[in-house]
Amino acid sequence: MRTQIGIIGAGPAGLVLAHLLHLEGIDAIVIEDKSRHYIEHRLRAGLLEQGSADLLIETGVGARLQKERMYHKGIYLKFNGRLHRIDFEALVGQGVMIYAQQEVIKDLVAARLEAGLPLYFEAGDVAVSDLKGARPKIRFTHQGKKQEIECDYIAGCDGFHGICRPSIPAGDLQLFDRDYPFAWLGILAEAPQAKEELVYTHSERGFALLTMRTPELSRLYLQCPRHDDIAAWPDERIWEELRARTAGGEGWHLPEGPIVQKGITPMRSFVVEPMQYGRMFLAGDSAHIVPPTGAKGMNLAIADVRVLARALAAFYKSGRSDLLENYSRTVLRRVWKVQRFSWWMTHLTHLYDSDNQFDRRRQLAELDYVTGSRAAALTLAENYVGLPMEWE
Ligand code: APR
Ligand code: PHB
Repeated sequence: MRTQIGIIGAGPAGLVLAHLLHLEGIDAIVIEDKSRHYIEHRLRAGLLEQGSADLLIETGVGARLQKERMYHKGIYLKFNGRLHRIDFEALVGQGVMIYAQQEVIKDLVAARLEAGLPLYFEAGDVAVSDLKGARPKIRFTHQGKKQEIECDYIAGCDGFHGICRPSIPAGDLQLFDRDYPFAWLGILAEAPQAKEELVYTHSERGFALLTMRTPELSRLYLQCPRHDDIAAWPDERIWEELRARTAGGEGWHLPEGPIVQKGITPMRSFVVEPMQYGRMFLAGDSAHIVPPTGAKGMNLAIADVRVLARALAAFYKSGRSDLLENYSRTVLRRVWKVQRFSWWMTHLTHLYDSDNQFDRRRQLAELDYVTGSRAAALTLAENYVGLPMEWE
């Protein structure tokens, strides 16, 4: 087989890239190692920046998003038992959307298959080669048959555990990372929301986040020790901890209901540089991971591939290769700003060392500042709704 762009991974990065390339008249083949059912039901984050949502709508894959999204004009920060609202719309004239990542995936997969465009699921033994040559290759097995695709370029959109990044010689990449001493325990519960918008909670017992999927389905997170086993968290313990961490304030009530799913996700900050090796470009989680506190993972993946699609379009239209050559430099500027913001939101709200009262007082002062100063609230707001795109 032969194509212009071979895309490995059908997550937000790979599928949005394939969609944008199709609109530019550029051929692509998407290779995914999991099944369609698996990727359409994998529970991930669910918050879209205005720019990410606008892109999906403007490019014709946002019909269901427009109907089902929950638009939020702000968020709440809760500390010292009291709620404080940050009004994004008043501060920066934009908001954010709740629409689960797997729903974005369903919309993009449906659009691609309806258009009859190539997307291979359950591809085995995926490997890349000749990355420095003129015709890089992707090899894989599909329904028992060995396949080979010759490409102009390869897009490594295969997430943190994919094969693209490890196919680059270690000496050609620089790794930057930071681990956190905690993880997030996330649940999906058949319960309505305590508030109509997200509540980020700082408490003496650690961080909690109240978010949602639909008006009747809550998504709730708790900071827990990094190596905790989910077996140590029976449902009643989870509710007890959520109640304790979010308690306080007039009329406050945390609605409860049956827990339909639960799991623990470790947190890390991670970046590789550069995000290119020969004719392979990395995009999304294959090149960087952010802690989920700023809700940036999916949005950053989408921002990467917008830049990549534009650079590829310029190359095929006018033979310009400067945008492609600058891809890594261009996207890393946003990547690092988003890393900074995600790290900051995490530091602002999580319990690091319960004995260190200096840090607790400093966090409370910072929360007081962020909710009391227009300048500080504006800084949070413009990062949370999404920084403007930088194209080169
Ligand atoms: N071959 C083919 N596909 C692969 C391989 C492989 N060897 N390894 C992984 N994949 C697939 C995964 O099954 C997944 O569907 O690549 C896809 C990568 O998608 P994501 O992990 O969703 O990464 P990305 O598209 O960069 O999106 C980042 O997703 O993980 C969340 O929180 C993260 O919101 C962020 C977003
Ligand atoms: C989610 O809805 O899953 C979500 C929202 C905001 C975050 C993280 C996750 O910061």
